[in-house]
Amino acid sequence: MSTIGPESAELAPDDLKNRVAVELERTRQRSISLTDAVDDDDLVAQHSPLMSPLVWDLAHVGSQEELWLVRDVGGRPALRPDIDDLYDAFQHSRCDRPQLPLLGPGESRDYIATVRDKAQDVLHRVRLEGGRLVERAFAFGMIVQHEQQHDETMLATHQLRRGEPVLHAPEPPSMAETPLPSTEVFVPAGGFTMGTSTEPWALDNERPAHPVHVADFCIDTHPVTNADFFRFIESGGYQQSRWWSEAGWRHREHARLSAPLFWRRSGDTWWRRRFGRIEPVPPDEPVVHVSFHEAQAYANWAGKRLPTEAEWEKAARFDPATGKSMRYPWGDSEPTPERANLGQRHLRPAPAGAYAAGRAPCGAGQLIGDVWEWTSSDFAAYPGFEAFPYREYSEVFFGTSQKVLRGGSFGTDAAACRATFRNWDFPIRRQIFAGFRCARTPSRAELD
Ligand SMILES: [Fe+2]
Repeated sequence: MSTIGPESAELAPDDLKNRVAVELERTRQRSISLTDAVDDDDLVAQHSPLMSPLVWDLAHVGSQEELWLVRDVGGRPALRPDIDDLYDAFQHSRCDRPQLPLLGPGESRDYIATVRDKAQDVLHRVRLEGGRLVERAFAFGMIVQHEQQHDETMLATHQLRRGEPVLHAPEPPSMAETPLPSTEVFVPAGGFTMGTSTEPWALDNERPAHPVHVADFCIDTHPVTNADFFRFIESGGYQQSRWWSEAGWRHREHARLSAPLFWRRSGDTWWRRRFGRIEPVPPDEPVVHVSFHEAQAYANWAGKRLPTEAEWEKAARFDPATGKSMRYPWGDSEPTPERANLGQRHLRPAPAGAYAAGRAPCGAGQLIGDVWEWTSSDFAAYPGFEAFPYREYSEVFFGTSQKVLRGGSFGTDAAACRATFRNWDFPIRRQIFAGFRCARTPSRAELD
């Protein structure tokens, strides 16, 4: 695993290009393995109205690569201008995509391979200077992250797919090497630097770095577990409107929510379906496949709340010893298998308390990897935000309809995950690999 960080400024252009080429190839192998895992009928099928057919994602990553790397950076002629519209995510909603005259599985594979050949040639020849798109190979980084994000989306489609298991991976670490000292930690009031202006592949919505004052707060040392969530269900949490926001309760009634997605109760046991396997819900794992509304209801029931995005980021990267914000909870060096559950290395979150080597200075663990964490914050621009390279990347999603998620999941690649990375989605969504942790404002008596 190799991320391109601020230290890449020291690299000679050819060394940077070599690392970019490795990232492109590593990412493509993941896309291929996710799509080769099923047959052609499965590739063109729609496994849920929430998702595109896998074959759409596959050709779409090629289409974006053609637009940005071949045509824009490379200045080369269009390969397939006739299909631009089919693979423009803003032209067709996911549920309508199966009806489009999409490229078939074979054509899609040929198309993305041809685009990749051209993109590699562009990488080989381009001068990585003279514009934001090419400096530090930003456009290539954007395309790597884009493909990795679609790989995570395709992994979510695999989870929605019915049928025998086709994906395999070793189990994550089973227990904490060092037990967590407590269930929550206190983070004293004070300023910290939020966002980044130095991370070369950071996307527009993570920029720029800016000072934020955060009041005293407590945050859970690990994400809420399935065992925690059993107690919420068993105490009638889904039946009592008092724990839910008005919009959350309306949605709960309308969608008849009674447990996380993919859960089913039989007798005294909760079972879940996970990539085609039916298994008892493991009590010590972070809960996953819950909506923002469910997360918020749980937090209210527990006498807590969801963290704001600023609280989450401060817990994840502020080092009080230096007063600086780091790239990751453990420091500035890249994620390793000892620090975080990322990159589909495992097909599930690791138990709460795992990854002691990945804990933040405040003592909280598993902030990166395992499950995306819902925050209470709407997706909004940072002060000084500039849309780059196009408004549709982030700006059109700013507003009150999308909630921010942080930290990445077991299905998120390291190239598309850092402590500044912002994900967003509608508060009703739960097919994504999302869980949460709670925070609270300490009482005056506790602070005295
Ligand atoms: Fe996309």
